[in-house]
Amino acid sequence: MTSDHVPEKGCETILEPPFLVPADQNGKFCFAAKCIYLCIRLEASTFRVEGGTVALADNILKLKAEKNALILAHNYQRPEIQDIADYVGDSIELSRRAMEEKDARIIVFSAVDFMAESAAILNPKKKVLLPVLGARCPMAQMLTVEEIKRSKSQHPRTPVVLYVNTLAAAKAECDICCTSANAVEVVSSVDADTVLLGPDRNLAEYVQRKTGKTVIPIPEWGFCPTHLLFQPEDVQILKSQHPEAAVMVHPECTFEMQKAGDFVGSTSQMCRYAKESKATTFIVGTEEGVLHRLRKDNPAKKFFLAYDGAVCPNMKLNTLERIYVSLKEEKHVVTVPEPIAKHARKALQRMFELK
Ligand code: 13P
Ligand code: SF4
Repeated sequence: MTSDHVPEKGCETILEPPFLVPADQNGKFCFAAKCIYLCIRLEASTFRVEGGTVALADNILKLKAEKNALILAHNYQRPEIQDIADYVGDSIELSRRAMEEKDARIIVFSAVDFMAESAAILNPKKKVLLPVLGARCPMAQMLTVEEIKRSKSQHPRTPVVLYVNTLAAAKAECDICCTSANAVEVVSSVDADTVLLGPDRNLAEYVQRKTGKTVIPIPEWGFCPTHLLFQPEDVQILKSQHPEAAVMVHPECTFEMQKAGDFVGSTSQMCRYAKESKATTFIVGTEEGVLHRLRKDNPAKKFFLAYDGAVCPNMKLNTLERIYVSLKEEKHVVTVPEPIAKHARKALQRMFELK
């Protein structure tokens, strides 16, 4: 990053790709990986744009107009990014928005790799930019093409449903995609009593409970490191302080956390629930970024994060500075080779055809 690109103020991070959370053969964090992850998580929680935010935001908006760009930001993005984005949403909303975009020449996708990849697959004529190459979802890396092929050979003729938190090459091997917002509907729509679903084991178990179908998780152990941080004990403590609070939980959380929830759903479904609910206090079981939107949309309501350390370091790699540089230099362009994209597109389109 050079000084003519960004104002002097604002801190820079030194995390470089690949930024993955490795697991041992049993899919558990090995001790070293856990330490690295926790250190990075702590670092991520201290990132701050200390000054120049307004000027930087103005410069991004000017550049965006000059270059005819659209900025899409996930609900987990930093507040200052959400505030300059054209659209803030959950994974399905952002994919649909990218797919339907006609006018913009560039789509800047402030989120993680698999979301930008889906945008490039669904709208291949647009230049899709991922501001930081290292912003990769570790869960998406947990399901390889080899693992899908192995599971298919063990369960022939069993439909494969893949969470959008997967890489394009994995999507190309599945029958239909789903997100946390529609996984129950997608699996219900599949004409089979048994399905393979990956990579998130907690989501697979949630869908099995909701649909009554047999949902086989692939791999057996897939997980989101950020959502695994939530513990039901934290909810109990907050509940004792705010007994009237409604509890909202993401399906990537453990079953014990889901049981503690009054509502289980995607990030945008939580935003809708909070708006429509009579409750005025909420305990939130998902990544901390969503609290910005919740508080902005509901200034009279109170929101408490169920666990203060619930930060997705991958999502937080995006900063205003990096978005500015990304737009200025038109990097990093996300492309998916057409032989893979055409199969992945079909799986995504089948999901969109459901509604
Ligand atoms: P949503 O679809 O709920 O936004 O979730 C995406 C995600 O990565 C959750 O960790
Ligand atoms: Fe991936 Fe979890 Fe981060 Fe979502 S919160 S992008 S699933 S690591």
